[in-house]
Amino acid sequence: MVRGTDPAADEVLLRNGTRLVVRPIRPADADALVALHARLSADTIYRRYFGLRPHLSPADVDRFTRVDGRVRFALVAVQESDLVAVARYEGRPGECNAELAVVVDDALHHQGVGRLLLERLADVAHEAGLDTLAADVLAGNAAMLGLLRTLGLPRRAERDGDTVTVFVDLSGSEPSTARRQRARQHLAQAGSVVPPA
Ligand SMILES: CC(C)(COP(=O)(O)OP(=O)(O)OC[C@H]1O[C@@H](n2cnc3c(N)ncnc32)[C@H](O)[C@@H]1OP(=O)(O)O)[C@@H](O)C(=O)NCCC(=O)NCCS
Repeated sequence: MVRGTDPAADEVLLRNGTRLVVRPIRPADADALVALHARLSADTIYRRYFGLRPHLSPADVDRFTRVDGRVRFALVAVQESDLVAVARYEGRPGECNAELAVVVDDALHHQGVGRLLLERLADVAHEAGLDTLAADVLAGNAAMLGLLRTLGLPRRAERDGDTVTVFVDLSGSEPSTARRQRARQHLAQAGSVVPPA
């Protein structure tokens, strides 16, 4: 589905020939993040934010584009100069769990981008010392539930009304050396102080 072309740049080629670069989000992505949000369908926004949210507020954009690695981190997929997907986690200082969220531009659904970013995000979270990522998902969101099921990591789910919280367990995760290096590179790119492997 997706193959790497340049591990140093974390460049990937999708099955449909689209070339993407994966990297941590940065403050200079603010305009591109607003543009991505403006392209999202109402359905995709609802599944991501559980509400209408036609625009991101300046405070949202500021928070979403500033990451530190340990508590808050986001990877973006970039096509030329456009952001086409974002996967993020956000926790609390001193805790080993964080909330996970992901969104992919509607035009690129079903191309493996969501899985690609979540796999990389899980590796970064593991490298940053987290042991659980929790995703709140609408019970009818078959795409996200299917994606979490096929991640290949242990998980459990709790349902509360229309929402399912899926807890992904990273504690037994054993990524390859190459994946660990890539995750550590992403953390370093985000300005995080990476402890020795
Ligand atoms: C959920 C979402 C991120 C999936 O992204 P995607 O790039 O289309 O997903 P992928 O192509 O990587 O799919 C990976 C796997 O997920 C599952 N999946 C994806 N779409 C699916 C669907 N519509 N129904 C069932 N399973 C689906 C499949 O197992 C798929 O593997 P396969 O392609 O080998 O069959 C995307 O649909 C999205 O942005 N949705 C709106 C935001 C959202 O729901 N976020 C989750 C709450 S935080």
